[in-house]
Amino acid sequence: MKNIFIINGPNLNLLGKREPTIYGNITFESYFSSLQKQFVDKVRLQHFQSNIEGELIDKIQAACLDNDGIILNAAAYSHTSIALADAIKSVQIPVIGVHISNIYNREAERHTDLLVGACKGNISGLGLDGYRLAIYYLLQL
Ligand code: DQA
Repeated sequence: MKNIFIINGPNLNLLGKREPTIYGNITFESYFSSLQKQFVDKVRLQHFQSNIEGELIDKIQAACLDNDGIILNAAAYSHTSIALADAIKSVQIPVIGVHISNIYNREAERHTDLLVGACKGNISGLGLDGYRLAIYYLLQL
């Protein structure tokens, strides 16, 4: 049984309501329960969301102590945060970066993701399915 921690950054608490044409109309809570059901025999899943950069860093540092992998959607901080990139580099477990939307076909300011090089791998543009695919990847390590 693996332990995987999903960390979501700013405004992702509004999934389901926020810009539904880009992010869909499903809340993260309901998507997360479907993930838990799907992986019930294989993965112990936990998730955390914060709008505060330092709390995301604290959670990365804590989650690495008792998990096999982290799935991180740092949302807008992906485009701005060297501190989050440093936090990812400081942990020993794989961190997979996920973006629900395809950041490369959106506004120019979203094209740079400062976290990509620190992550083991990245998924962008596959909708909420990106989280599920990241779990599959972490499961086969
Ligand atoms: C996002 C993409 C970011 O550019 C944006 O700021 C988000 C969500 C995504 O999941 O597509 O908040 O990370």
